[in-house]
Amino acid sequence: MSVALYVFSFISLMGTSNTAGEKYKVYQVPIRGKALRGHTYKTAMAGELFRCYVRCERDPVCKSCNFKHTQQICEMNNETKETKPNDFITEQQSYYIKRTGGDVNECKKGQTNLCNKYAFCNNTKGSYRCRCKQGFVGDGFNCIDVNECENGLSNPCDKNAFCNNTKGSYSCHCNQGFVNDGFSCICKKRKEKKKRCMIII
Ligand SMILES: *[C@@H]1O[C@H](CO)[C@@H](O)[C@H](O)[C@H]1NC(C)=O
Ligand SMILES: *[C@@H]1O[C@H](CO)[C@@H](O)[C@H](O)[C@H]1NC(C)=O
Ligand SMILES: *[C@@H]1O[C@H](CO)[C@@H](O)[C@H](O)[C@H]1NC(C)=O
Repeated sequence: MSVALYVFSFISLMGTSNTAGEKYKVYQVPIRGKALRGHTYKTAMAGELFRCYVRCERDPVCKSCNFKHTQQICEMNNETKETKPNDFITEQQSYYIKRTGGDVNECKKGQTNLCNKYAFCNNTKGSYRCRCKQGFVGDGFNCIDVNECENGLSNPCDKNAFCNNTKGSYSCHCNQGFVNDGFSCICKKRKEKKKRCMIII
């Protein structure tokens, strides 16, 4: 489906693909009553918002546009409200739309994506992917912490250590009477036969 078709319906369209970890992008919604002032490099006549948007989309210089619907004027800007926030003004007769260039980086700060907070977001052409970070399992939209301590096979702590599961990881701490890094624990004082470490061994 073309970008133009998405915009034509004037709503934020989010198709949900069933491909694991992937969702179709959210296109920029026109902002009513707003305009970017002072960065118009070209003005054209356009009968409707959709035409104005398509003009902007086709011109690589165009970063955003203001559509003045009473005059049917399309102002093409070489800046955006993100790059020039002070020039983003209220203007009743105007709509502001940002050009996507066919691709929105949903992974960028401030954009909408549905990745879990424990996932990496990877922008792709026309969409984005979410991938759970190490220590988590899931499809990227839902990421569940792996309890490394409960899995006897993957728990690499020494048998004389306490395993502490944490979000995305774990840590090992030698039991009382033992010292070292928790992955291997050695008896603190071999001579003290009554110490717990001797009893465990
Ligand atoms: C934007 O367009 C204006 C008007 O044509 C021009 O003066 C300015 O240098 C352009 N800015 C950029 C960043 O291209
Ligand atoms: C992001 O996706 C691209 C294309 O699918 C892939 O080549 C790349 O390795 C991915 N990067 C990460 C960090 O997942
Ligand atoms: C386990 O790890 C958490 C998070 O790092 C920490 O707050 C907690 O004190 C630790 N518990 C023990 C018994 O070490």
